[in-house]
Amino acid sequence: MKNWDQFLSPYKQAVEELKVKLKGMRKQYEQASSHSPIEFVTGRVKPIASILDKANQKGIPLDKLETEMQDIAGLRMMCQFVDDIKRVVELLRNRNDFEIVEERDYISHKKVSGYRSYHVVIRYPVQTINGEKKILAEIQIRTLAMNFWATIEHSLNYKYKGQFPEDIKMRLQRAAEAAFRLDEEMSLIRGEIQDAQAFFTKKKEQQENT
Ligand code: GTP
Ligand code: MG
Repeated sequence: MKNWDQFLSPYKQAVEELKVKLKGMRKQYEQASSHSPIEFVTGRVKPIASILDKANQKGIPLDKLETEMQDIAGLRMMCQFVDDIKRVVELLRNRNDFEIVEERDYISHKKVSGYRSYHVVIRYPVQTINGEKKILAEIQIRTLAMNFWATIEHSLNYKYKGQFPEDIKMRLQRAAEAAFRLDEEMSLIRGEIQDAQAFFTKKKEQQENT
């Protein structure tokens, strides 16, 4: 029987710290009044039941979780535009508070399911009363449209346990295609959208100052 509280504690610490740090990047763009490539950030520690399920499926022994399961600590960074994703990855590469272990580009190479996202696996040092402990964390960077699709597909996956009926599979593929086109359309009017957003941010600031 694993001592889960003790095992998960540095992961919880890491997710809380990384949420503050990554949200801080967005705040800095806001303060500089320039378009933030980061729309919002979320984070979670994988629930014990999901850790056990995945370990079981992948044949990972529980004493190897630390090195073999990269997403016990998980962060997501959502972007408005596909081009923002590259900028966010660049921002992550330039940081000195963790080390990038692996990058997986499911945008240039989408998964057969239709899934698109950019994954960055990092090794993050957590300070504990027993010294430094480095843990792995997975950061998923995606557009709002990619996130919408992945969230829906994930719920359905849960419902059908990965065995989708043919019609649902087809619908999901069409939805993935539609999300892809939505991202393309938004990229084409990116300039217009950003002008409007800058205008409204300024207006709001002026109202707050009167
Ligand atoms: P995992 O066993 O899931 O870790 O796969 P992997 O080791 O090949 O890593 P990968 O980068 O493919 O996927 C890691 C995470 O990406 C998953 O835990 C999901 O959050 C997400 N993901 C990957 N594929 C899909 C997909 O088809 N649909 C959805 N909704 N999410 C996915
Ligand atoms: Mg993985």
